[in-house]
Amino acid sequence: MPASSAPEPNSQYLDRLLRRGSFAALWPLFARATRPAKELTESYSALQHLRPFLPASGPCRVLHVGDGAHARTAALFALKTKAENISIDPVLNVPLLEQWSREFGIRGLSWHKARVAEVAAQLNALPEMPVLVTFVHAHLPVDEVLGQLRWDVAFTLACCVPGHQLSRRHPALRSGEDLSVLSGGRQYQVLVNSERAGSWLTAAALLPAPAPA
Ligand SMILES: C[S@@+](CC[C@H](N)C(=O)[O-])C[C@H]1O[C@@H](n2cnc3c(N)ncnc32)[C@H](O)[C@@H]1O
Repeated sequence: MPASSAPEPNSQYLDRLLRRGSFAALWPLFARATRPAKELTESYSALQHLRPFLPASGPCRVLHVGDGAHARTAALFALKTKAENISIDPVLNVPLLEQWSREFGIRGLSWHKARVAEVAAQLNALPEMPVLVTFVHAHLPVDEVLGQLRWDVAFTLACCVPGHQLSRRHPALRSGEDLSVLSGGRQYQVLVNSERAGSWLTAAALLPAPAPA
């Protein structure tokens, strides 16, 4: 096969996001990035890969760990899903998030301006429901953090320290390179907590992988 026919990065996530009415609400948060297309596609990758695991009905919580100052992945999920989203990062810009939530009438978004270890007990004490976790280029040891949390399914996208950002402990239901992520760090895993797999998860896991975006 000639080298030129190898799959190449593509703009499908970006095109999809740009076509949606919700893009206007995303833009104030993503416009602050030096490389908005990179950030948009990284966050969208989390949504794309976790969507099959969001229960069709009933409550669900998504913890966005290492979400950056602007809580962009939590914001995207708050706009696009019915899940309860919690952004966790010690550098969160809380005044910006308060103002953004007010301006766009956002529901289903809250945050902890803290290191995840400082709030893990508090998160684990929240009412029982399916819990998903995102690590989008989070500078954290994923297995160590997952060991502190009550969770069912996690998505991790690795950048500079893949050895820490990819799990060696939990089975990956899906993994690989997401070519619709417009940055060099596009290796991902969808992890399952086999100790907690409920019936909703079993059904979702049996679905085919999402069509190439
Ligand atoms: C490269 S940034 C990624 C930010 C965001 N996910 C994005 O893609 O724009 C890594 C983030 O991990 C956060 N982080 C590092 N240690 C953390 C911890 N112990 N708990 C929560 N977040 C942490 C940093 O504050 C930083 O915002």
